[in-house]
Amino acid sequence: MSKLLIEGGHPLCGVLKIQGAKNSILPIMAATLVAQGECVIENCPDISDTHTALEILKTLGAQVKMFGDKVWVDCTNVIDYEIPDALMRKMRSSIIFLGAVLTRRKKALLSFPGGCELGPRPIDLHLAALEKLGVHISEEHGYLRCEAARLKGAEIHLSFPSVGATENIMLASVQAEGRTVIENAAREPEIEDLQNFLNAMGADIRGAGSSTIVIRGVESLHSVQHRVIPDRIVTATYICAVAATRGNALLKNVEPKHLSSVLSVLREAGCEIQEFDDMISVACDRLQAVRLVRTMPYPGFPTDAQAPFMSLMCVASGSTVFVETMFENRFKHIAELQRMGAKITTEGRVAVVEGVRRLSGASVDATDLRGGGALLIAALAAEGETQIGRIEHIDRGYAAPEQVLGELGAKIVRIE
Ligand code: UD1
Repeated sequence: MSKLLIEGGHPLCGVLKIQGAKNSILPIMAATLVAQGECVIENCPDISDTHTALEILKTLGAQVKMFGDKVWVDCTNVIDYEIPDALMRKMRSSIIFLGAVLTRRKKALLSFPGGCELGPRPIDLHLAALEKLGVHISEEHGYLRCEAARLKGAEIHLSFPSVGATENIMLASVQAEGRTVIENAAREPEIEDLQNFLNAMGADIRGAGSSTIVIRGVESLHSVQHRVIPDRIVTATYICAVAATRGNALLKNVEPKHLSSVLSVLREAGCEIQEFDDMISVACDRLQAVRLVRTMPYPGFPTDAQAPFMSLMCVASGSTVFVETMFENRFKHIAELQRMGAKITTEGRVAVVEGVRRLSGASVDATDLRGGGALLIAALAAEGETQIGRIEHIDRGYAAPEQVLGELGAKIVRIE
């Protein structure tokens, strides 16, 4: 089992290039299934979730290749409609393939996405919406059998703006008969990226980025080349890492407007942030607590940035209150941060962080992807050496963190 070994206390300084967005590449790779030809996707992050998505496409009969940061997918010969349980369990977001497989094959067979990393993550909204589009769904032996003689447009009101459900509806309705309207749709930038990808293929989708998305079904979709947007959560993580080590850096290939809520909280914490067209600079020498961080659907403070920002507040002066409204069990990283000397108390979905002068290196385990990002930040800021285990969680979403951070002056190695 690999680990990351980090000697903390070295300010991170320099220039880094941010990878493409994990939460864009996954639905976009699913969307390649609805086109009859070849697609080229640029700015793909080399992370294990990308490889899992490529495996799913291959299992379904697609030809795929990854070279550098480009992925080439040819879905001409997609014949299968079953996603094996092992792949469904590897990555919860494999559920996003459901809508695309239905458009392509009018049927799909897959198991419930497994695990409970962040507490229960039901898919009831996905399934209820698909039923409205004419899909018949039955459950047998842990598998979902979905069939639709024909997909028909519908008016769908989501009781919560679920990212995955919004994407599944878009993918299932892109060639459905007539018009589909999604009310209370999720507004995340990755949804707009999916809309842009599908429209470039010939789809007719409007409104992504707002709460109402209108999809008019089209007859056929064609090959396309597309560049994925930058990863706003990786950007937030590395800004926190620079700030926690009192460093200064320029982050390139970013989209500052996708980070408004995070940047305003970072400024409140004392970071000097400058925004350019596709770059952000960060410098920090004094960190102070912020009043309250409450996670919310976009454009609110992202739940995915909660753990990384919590590590930063562990070394700020004063106390910060975190309220996690999105997921039930998203505080697992706290026990690991406490091993490093963090002062944090929790009560249900509320955590109070009392900043300390210094964290101290320890042996810790990544508990989930963003919890792993939080441990990287804590380790870089801590006195002494930290060993992070279970880094397969980190590798799901951060491409070669030892290389990226090493180039900024971090003392970090991967040991096998
Ligand atoms: C996506 C992101 C993930 C991010 C999350 C919230 C991807 C690949 N993943 O996950 O990084 O943390 O958005 O911003 O894009 N819910 C239901 N029923 C459903 C669907 C969701 O109750 O059918 C609940 C979930 O349990 C959760 C909340 O809605 O409490 C938000 O989930 P959702 O927006 O669907 O997140 P994901 O699409 O899974």
